[in-house]
Amino acid sequence: MGKKKLIRFRENATFERLFEPSALKLLEIDHHFKGKWSADFFGNDHKLVLELGCGRGEYTVGLAKMFPDKNFVGMDIKGSRLYHGVKAVQNDSVNNACFVRSQIELINKIFDREVTEIWVTFPDPYPGKAHRRLTSPVFLNRYRQILVENGTVCLKTDDYDLYDFTRTLALDNGLRIIDDTDDLYNSLLHSVLPPIQTTYEKRFVQEGKKICFLSFNLNNQLKPLAKKTAGNP
Ligand SMILES: C[S@@+](CC[C@H](N)C(=O)[O-])C[C@H]1O[C@@H](n2cnc3c(N)ncnc32)[C@H](O)[C@@H]1O
Repeated sequence: MGKKKLIRFRENATFERLFEPSALKLLEIDHHFKGKWSADFFGNDHKLVLELGCGRGEYTVGLAKMFPDKNFVGMDIKGSRLYHGVKAVQNDSVNNACFVRSQIELINKIFDREVTEIWVTFPDPYPGKAHRRLTSPVFLNRYRQILVENGTVCLKTDDYDLYDFTRTLALDNGLRIIDDTDDLYNSLLHSVLPPIQTTYEKRFVQEGKKICFLSFNLNNQLKPLAKKTAGNP
């Protein structure tokens, strides 16, 4: 491991706005803020918004600055990326945001039915391994358990196959699609969505890639993936 990473990991352990629960401990006992993040951590009754696979946390920090009357949690497994987000909330005194370093697989040990909106920003597309995608039925059913009624999921991706896979899942499972475009930057939605670009989004836009956006309600339980689909050989 590089020296820079080690220094960041050590500093991460000192941040008040970064939680690094051990996976083993979470398997035994739920996170102490589960079900009461707004009341017990943020000290208010504001709505709670999550960003999953937040990387350096640009979306979490950007949204928190735009919407001071909501609370934001960014989640990722990579501490060296989260470091940048935590530094930003600390330097700019963004008191309505924090970060959790954990596997998203453990999300139900950390949150209860208390989340109003989930952002999945530029998740790994996992070609040929659909079950690993953060928008596969296994993950969406986990999100369903922590979302309030009419809670929404928003997906931003440069990967058309991942977008199409998620959109097809939503349609096949009777989910309510709210907004949908396979070319965000040439869509009216572009002026409506928050003008925030993540590290990956900046890179993809510079490369001339189209950005897809999909938002939907998790109003139904999703069926498991069929054993053999194009993305799930
Ligand atoms: C392609 S990056 C995108 C990062 C950021 N959202 C952006 O747009 O710049 C995907 C991120 O998801 C995180 N990630 C992927 N699978 C994860 C999982 N199961 N649990 C936690 N983090 C995960 C990775 O660590 C990585 O930072």
